[in-house]
Amino acid sequence: MNDKSKIWMDGKFVRWNNAKIHVLTHGLHYGTAVFEGIRCYHTKKGPAIFRLEEHLKRLMNSCKMYHMNCEFSEKEIREAIIQTIKINSVKDCYIRPICYYGYGKMGVNPLPNKVSTSVAIWNWEDHIKTKNNAGMRVIVSSWIRIDSRSLPIHAKAAANYANSALARIEAIKSGVDEAIMLNMRGMVVEGTAENIFMVKNKILVTPPLTSGALDGITRSSVLDIAEDLDIDFQISDISRDELYNADEVFLTGTAAEIKSIGEIDNIKIADGRTGKIATQLQDVYNQIVHGKNEKFEKWLTYIN
Ligand SMILES: Cc1ncc(COP(=O)(O)O)c(C=O)c1O
Repeated sequence: MNDKSKIWMDGKFVRWNNAKIHVLTHGLHYGTAVFEGIRCYHTKKGPAIFRLEEHLKRLMNSCKMYHMNCEFSEKEIREAIIQTIKINSVKDCYIRPICYYGYGKMGVNPLPNKVSTSVAIWNWEDHIKTKNNAGMRVIVSSWIRIDSRSLPIHAKAAANYANSALARIEAIKSGVDEAIMLNMRGMVVEGTAENIFMVKNKILVTPPLTSGALDGITRSSVLDIAEDLDIDFQISDISRDELYNADEVFLTGTAAEIKSIGEIDNIKIADGRTGKIATQLQDVYNQIVHGKNEKFEKWLTYIN
C-alpha cells in the first residue's frame, strides 16, 4: 500500500496518509475497539474474500458485547469492504474493519462517545518465515491468557491484544517466533493470534472454546476440512506436557494460515518439521482460498 491507497472511514474514502483520528479517541486510551482480520486471495476469477460472512458475524457479535451502536449495518460494512478492495485495485490483501468508541468525552465510560468504523487493507507480509518445512520455534508464555471472568474473550477486542502483545514480546525477546498461552487452569489455549492444534496417534486435537480460545474461523475451517478428509478429531483440553510429546503441533489463523511448530521451550516436536496431517491440511486450505476446490467454493466471496 502507498499514499495513493484509500481507507474507508465512516462512509467516505480518504487517502492513506489522511486516515487520522483524534489523540483523545476513547478506544486508544481504554481499548474499547473491536475489529476483524480477514484475507482476500487471488483466484482465477479475480480477488476473493475468505469466509466474509463469518467474519462479519463475529464483528457484529463483538460490537454487541461492547454495547456499541454502530452507525453502519452488517450489510453496509460488507459493502464497504468490497468497495475498499475495488477502489484500491488489489489482487490480494489483508482486510481490517474496526469499530471503536471515538472522540468525545474522556473517562472510562465509553457510552457518550460516537462509535466510528473504518476499513483498511494492506499487503500481507508473513512475520514468521521458516525454511525447508522447518517448524516455528515457540515458548510457553509466562503471561496467562485472559479469561471470560475479566473480559469477553469471544469478542475480538483491542483490549484482549495487550495480553497477546506482552506474550509476543516475551517470545521475541527470548529469541523465538511465537508464544503459546495457557489459561488460569494451566491448560493450553492458543497462540497470541492463532488457535492451536496437536496430532497424537493420528487424531487431531484442539482445545474447546471454553478453554478461552477465540472461535477462530480458520480453526473451524480446519475442522471442516479434517472431517472431509476423514481425519479423526476431538475437541478437548490439552496440557502443556502433552504438546511436548505430540506427533505434530500447529497454529491456525487468518494471518498465519496453518503453521507448524517445530520446537516448544527448546524441546523438539517429533522431527521438528511440518508433519503429514498439517501438510495435508495446508494443501487443501491453499486450494480452497485460491478458488481451486469446488466443494468449499461457498467460503469465497468474489469481488467481481
Ligand atoms: C487470539 C486469537 N486466537 C485465534 C485467532 C485465529 O482466528 P481466525 O482464524 O478467525 O483468524 C486469532 C486471530 O484473529 C486471535 O487473535
